[in-house]
Amino acid sequence: MGRYLHGVLCAFVFTFALLHNVQAQDEKGFITLDCGLLPDGSPYVDSSTGLTFTSDASFVESGKNGRVDKDSVRIVEKALVTLRYFPDGERNCYNLKVTQGTNYLIRAFFLYGNYDGFNTNPNFDLFLGPNKWTTVDLDATAGVKYEEIIHMSRLSSLQICLVKTGTTTPMISTLELRPLRSDIYISSTGSSLKLLSRSYANSSSRILRYPDDVYDRWWLPLVDTKWNVVTTTLSVNTSNGYDPPQGAMTSAATYVNDNGRLDIPWSLEDSTARFHIYLHFAEIQTLLANETREFNVLLNGKVFNGPYSPKKLKIDTMITKPESTLRCERGICLLQLVKTTKSTLPPLINAMETFTVVEFPQSETNQDEVIAIKKIQSAYGLSRISWQGDPCVPKKFLWAGLNCNNTDSSTPPTITSLNLSSSGLTDIIMPAILHLTNLQELDLSNNNLTGAVPGFLADMKSLLVINLSGNNLSGQLPQKLLEKKGLKLNTEGNPKLLCTEGSCENKSRESGHPKKSIVVPVVASVASLFVVATALVLFFVLKRKKSSKTKESGRTPRSSEPPIITKKKKFTYEEVTEMTNNFERILGKGGFGMVYHGYVNGKEPVAVKVVSQASNHGHKQFKAEVDLLLRVHHKNLVSLVGYCEKGNDLALVYEYMANGDLKEILSGLEYLHKGCRPPIVHRDVKTANILLNEHFQAKLADFGLSRSFSNEGESHVSTVVAGTLGYLDPDYYNTNWLTEKSDVYSFGVVLLEIITNLPVIDQSRETPYIAEWVGLMVTKGDIRNITDPSLNGDYHSDSVWRFVELAMTCVNASSASRPTMSQVVVELIQCLTFENSRGGTSRDLDSKSSRQVSMTFGTDVNPTAR
Ligand SMILES: *[C@@H]1O[C@H](CO)[C@@H](O)[C@H](O)[C@H]1NC(C)=O
Ligand SMILES: *[C@@H]1O[C@H](CO)[C@@H](O)[C@H](O)[C@H]1NC(C)=O
Ligand SMILES: *[C@@H]1O[C@H](CO)[C@@H](O)[C@H](O)[C@H]1NC(C)=O
Ligand SMILES: *[C@@H]1O[C@H](CO)[C@@H](O)[C@H](O)[C@H]1NC(C)=O
Ligand SMILES: *[C@@H]1O[C@H](CO)[C@@H](O)[C@H](O)[C@H]1NC(C)=O
Ligand SMILES: *[C@@H]1O[C@H](CO)[C@@H](O)[C@H](O)[C@H]1NC(C)=O
Ligand SMILES: *[C@@H]1O[C@H](CO)[C@@H](O)[C@H](O)[C@H]1NC(C)=O
Ligand SMILES: *[C@@H]1O[C@H](CO)[C@@H](O)[C@H](O)[C@H]1NC(C)=O
Ligand SMILES: *[C@@H]1O[C@H](CO)[C@@H](O)[C@H](O)[C@H]1NC(C)=O
Repeated sequence: MGRYLHGVLCAFVFTFALLHNVQAQDEKGFITLDCGLLPDGSPYVDSSTGLTFTSDASFVESGKNGRVDKDSVRIVEKALVTLRYFPDGERNCYNLKVTQGTNYLIRAFFLYGNYDGFNTNPNFDLFLGPNKWTTVDLDATAGVKYEEIIHMSRLSSLQICLVKTGTTTPMISTLELRPLRSDIYISSTGSSLKLLSRSYANSSSRILRYPDDVYDRWWLPLVDTKWNVVTTTLSVNTSNGYDPPQGAMTSAATYVNDNGRLDIPWSLEDSTARFHIYLHFAEIQTLLANETREFNVLLNGKVFNGPYSPKKLKIDTMITKPESTLRCERGICLLQLVKTTKSTLPPLINAMETFTVVEFPQSETNQDEVIAIKKIQSAYGLSRISWQGDPCVPKKFLWAGLNCNNTDSSTPPTITSLNLSSSGLTDIIMPAILHLTNLQELDLSNNNLTGAVPGFLADMKSLLVINLSGNNLSGQLPQKLLEKKGLKLNTEGNPKLLCTEGSCENKSRESGHPKKSIVVPVVASVASLFVVATALVLFFVLKRKKSSKTKESGRTPRSSEPPIITKKKKFTYEEVTEMTNNFERILGKGGFGMVYHGYVNGKEPVAVKVVSQASNHGHKQFKAEVDLLLRVHHKNLVSLVGYCEKGNDLALVYEYMANGDLKEILSGLEYLHKGCRPPIVHRDVKTANILLNEHFQAKLADFGLSRSFSNEGESHVSTVVAGTLGYLDPDYYNTNWLTEKSDVYSFGVVLLEIITNLPVIDQSRETPYIAEWVGLMVTKGDIRNITDPSLNGDYHSDSVWRFVELAMTCVNASSASRPTMSQVVVELIQCLTFENSRGGTSRDLDSKSSRQVSMTFGTDVNPTAR
């Protein structure tokens, strides 16, 4: 039969003898693509079939248009002149909209026609979604072949992929989809029927297709010289669901050999393949009263059906059941129609179809997720050669930037990771991401995304990592995102991202210096504060230390210094012992335990804070700190490198702050405080909690007491009073109402501490509390007395007055009268800008400290002094 098929195919291609009259018929649901057709020639109506061919350009994103070589082949069918070939990428796919759960006849035609001048027939694979349909070996078929499969799509889109398997380039000439009735050509679940042959008995060379065939099946004439073909001019009732064309049923093969048998043999390439058979019968001869036609149908020697007599001018179709396991031994198959003893006439057959069963075990990726990822792809205009076909499977063709959970092939894979870092994305964060419900990691860093950070990210249950750094996002960071447990969130480098009323950072970029900027959940505005704190440190502290400061120090732009890159991880106690060399070098003693020096990976310096076992607060505080630090990344926050939890032994491994804490710098004493603001109230802002790295970059540490407000509407939290005496908001102390203004108070105290370089509480002073004491000095107008004498008066009194005034409004006893943190930041920036731009008396000193300050501000504030 293969011989016939091939011969007829060539006839079809080269001599083309379709004689249909074009009828207007409903071709609803037909997809008819002329591959490689230029869009300006599309669509066109094929004169022999009346089918409308369209260009394939809008169904495939890759590939190039080719045209067969006129001198190599003679072609009469227009659709075969052009073709599409795929020189790039391993897998290239057509993406077609289909009706879910509908059986489709899918047919692809390949005519090589030496389009590339290489005279080499290609060989490649065809896939339907994640499953292999067949191998297209054009060399074995002299450069021309078609493949057909009857497939029920589980989804509403269908991917037909050409996969490069060797050195030759996949190509395709036409692609056609025909929806079928859903009750015909049924195969077992997870399998499809690949066409082997479809023929009708006739000696003509005419291929029957649409419009003769309502489904546009192609029926090839089949004859054998030993057969006797009978025909009728009467019409046959073909309405049994299979509805083959009249022309296929009005002729039939009969044959009587010595045993009264009609044999039709064929071969299967794969002897293990199951096959299906559809046999169409109708009695088209007029039988006399004393005549009978009766026969048995045998497949490979076994009775398949019978005894059977065809019905007069009415179709009967014999089919294999969907679950049929018929196979052909050694690939040799034989259909036999054997006359029964009572039959006076030979057996007869009008038409037949044979299929092999192709197993499609691999489920497509979860459809909702496929739709979502496609939306994301089209919204961002992502054209990636690998982003074709099924996103997750086969694993070999996993889309770049995705990861999937594909535990077993019978359940649809799900997308667990989407990494579109540095993909040139513009526009907003697409809502379609919400439908990737199994997403664990989302990396959209280093793009040009704009708009707000959507709150739905917090509703995505599986999400563990979100990286939005290096974009152009703005608006307010959703509170619920900040509070999401176990979420690692990075929003660094989005200068317009707001934390509350103010801007997280009011920054403009130094030209030619694209630098990282802010981030962080909660502490964003706090962080901006610390940028300012850094400036203050440099302005006041470095001036004090001017004589000991060497020229080369800190000339490197600060923000280009990467923090410790080591991945945050859980360390074992043994590792902690090793990294600290058995807790050899003590850096200091914190409120809850000792801090040791150590090295991770033998080179990255770290500070290891061991929470003392005796401390009953220890464990709770440890948890709070880990929780917060693991989801907060900011250059003004001390990075948590890892942690260790073993029984009662708790250790936090931090990035090492070479210059100790701010308090050390200021007065050589123990701790400093931090200032914080909105979503998280730090509750323990003090100079000891502001640490300095080797570039005098201030970082906020010790989050143990921090407390997130549960939602944006809530402005205070009733809580047990905690914090450090002297920095504690008296309003909070009195009422137990914790508000962001409590941190403003504490920060005001820090400001005063910086300006005066005096202890926060000093019982020997006229008034022990620093806030009260400065207040007293201010009313006296005694600024000399307030400022640190080691500054040697090298400052502008206007600037200092502004600092002092600001600090004093922060420590106002009534929290309602204190400024918000954003107002504090704005004011501080103005003061510093003014101070930096003023011409100083001490030229050398001034230029040096100004340099320091502008360096510190590099990313955050317009440097005005250079
Ligand atoms: C063909 O057969 C079907 C089913 O047996 C019947 O319903 C229909 O009326 C027949 N058509 C004609 C034209 O006789
Ligand atoms: C079948 O063969 C007969 C006789 O050769 C011919 O008249 C008829 O047109 C053929 N049928 C088709 C569909 O070509
Ligand atoms: C059937 O009857 C016809 C006459 O009506 C006769 O010519 C023919 O031989 C008979 N055939 C058989 C098989 O008996
Ligand atoms: C993958 O999916 C299976 C079943 O849906 C689930 O049991 C398993 O935990 C998932 N694995 C991961 C790594 O998400
Ligand atoms: C995303 O990809 C980039 C490089 O392509 C890589 O550096 C980054 O770690 C990836 N993100 C995640 C979350 O794995
Ligand atoms: C953002 O867009 C600007 C201008 O269109 C471009 O220069 C820059 O490289 C883009 N940044 C990223 C990270 O894609
Ligand atoms: C984004 O952040 C995540 C988690 O912090 C990290 O794994 C990933 O590598 C980052 N992406 C890039 C491109 O740095
Ligand atoms: C960020 O967005 C603003 C408009 O909102 C635009 O003017 C600016 O150029 C963008 N910045 C970058 C780096 O793309
Ligand atoms: C940001 O800085 C600019 C000048 O650099 C200033 O005009 C603007 O008011 C500031 N905005 C905020 C919110 O601080």
